[in-house]
Amino acid sequence: MQPASALTLSRSAAAINGIRCLSGIATSEPSNPNVKTKIPGPKSDELKIAMAKVHQNPSVKMFVDYEKCFGNYLVDADGNEILDTFMQISSIPLGYNHPELVALHKDPRLITAAVSRPALGSFPRTDFAKLVDNALISIAPKGLSSVQTMLCGTSANENALKTAFIHYQTAKRGGKSPTAADLESCMNQQLPGTPHLSVLGFHGAFHGRSLAMLSVTRSKAVHKVDIPAHDWPIANFPRYKYPLEKHEEHNHAQDEKCLKEVRDLIAARKNDKRDVAAVIVEPIQSEGGDHHASAEFFHGLQKICKDNGVCFIVDEVQTGAGASGTMWAHEQWNLPSSPDIVTFSKKALIGGYYYKPEFKINEPYRIYNTWMGEPTKLVILEKAVEVMKRENLVKKTKEIGEELIKGLRRLESHYPQKVFNVRGMGTLVAFDTCDTQTRDKLMDIALQKGLQIGGCGDTSIRFRPALIFAEKHLQTTLDLLEKSIKTL
Ligand SMILES: Cc1ncc(COP(=O)(O)O)c(C=O)c1O
Repeated sequence: MQPASALTLSRSAAAINGIRCLSGIATSEPSNPNVKTKIPGPKSDELKIAMAKVHQNPSVKMFVDYEKCFGNYLVDADGNEILDTFMQISSIPLGYNHPELVALHKDPRLITAAVSRPALGSFPRTDFAKLVDNALISIAPKGLSSVQTMLCGTSANENALKTAFIHYQTAKRGGKSPTAADLESCMNQQLPGTPHLSVLGFHGAFHGRSLAMLSVTRSKAVHKVDIPAHDWPIANFPRYKYPLEKHEEHNHAQDEKCLKEVRDLIAARKNDKRDVAAVIVEPIQSEGGDHHASAEFFHGLQKICKDNGVCFIVDEVQTGAGASGTMWAHEQWNLPSSPDIVTFSKKALIGGYYYKPEFKINEPYRIYNTWMGEPTKLVILEKAVEVMKRENLVKKTKEIGEELIKGLRRLESHYPQKVFNVRGMGTLVAFDTCDTQTRDKLMDIALQKGLQIGGCGDTSIRFRPALIFAEKHLQTTLDLLEKSIKTL
């Protein structure tokens, strides 16, 4: 198989030379990881102490020398060169310092948008619609031709829920704007202006950490403890046994059980006059442990939503923009029609959501904030999308993801006590270990060998490489992982 990164880099050679002179940014990948100190090393430790004086830091793992990072390799403050299969929590589409993105520093649109950052809801740039078209509409899921930009995944989800609520109430009013009684009562958080609506989410889900999103985030207690939450219904998300083909009966029963719960919860809330206005779901419950569900499950979920007039929101913040081996993971379900709303961020570089035309909101300031996104990110995404399409990176991601799964299955067969439940979609690949302690230890050992992998849920390891993760990176990953597993 042709290594994707080699292609990408050779075409960009001219840009690379210019950039080296101008900015001293790295222009090539190390051929292998190179670890010189313990990780985090002394320099990172020192920087962490300095950070504590001005900023909270308990989650900081290591400091990074971003100018030295390139492609799939991260270089930390101590000069350790690390193969990064986690890529800033799944968020860098073309790897570090991609030459064609670095070359955008010469693009006046990037400079002016950064220096004179627009309040997009009121004063968008003259080229805003064109930028949105090139960067986001050109990769829109089928059936969704409108988009709203936002700041991050959480704000994308938060505004998607608001959109669903507004749509639900507008439909109840026969398409009319809020009445005088609605406007008056909402100021005291009373009916009818403040409706008793809810959003159905799933155990194990992660949709962000804002106050509203925490009411649908249920991946880990640490995110939720001490924070008041909305009384919104929670259904179980399927928990499959692997390999799938050996556990069809169990897995099908999981789908049925979870869909019944959704149906029952929606009906109970309707009885209670606390209607469910939206269901929000991840294609793969990522932070929660890389739990997958079948296309049949999602078909069933969409049908329940349709039957009940409930907005079907698919959170593709982590799975979107190519990593699943298709531009959007939900495309692999072949739904009869698109979801009502699809949210994104991370590899899409900018947060936001696609929506069906009937979810367009007509009144100003209902979906609004000062920045409402970031045109610099659209300029970068416009180029990233051009590279992704030209280099066929989504297809290559599908192929290399299949190789990664094969490699992990081989490890699973050699180390059945330590590696199990290998699963994946594109390079969104994961496996389970026996317990949290073993999982954390494996991550530490691998990092010390120069391989960064991610953890999720209680016992899982997940891979979230860039779209330029190629054969040679795969071989290094499997090699270092096997060496790490052996020392467990
Ligand atoms: C599925 C999903 N939704 C939402 C979010 C929140 O995104 P952000 O951290 O950009 O606010 C995340 C972050 O990991 C995520 O994985």
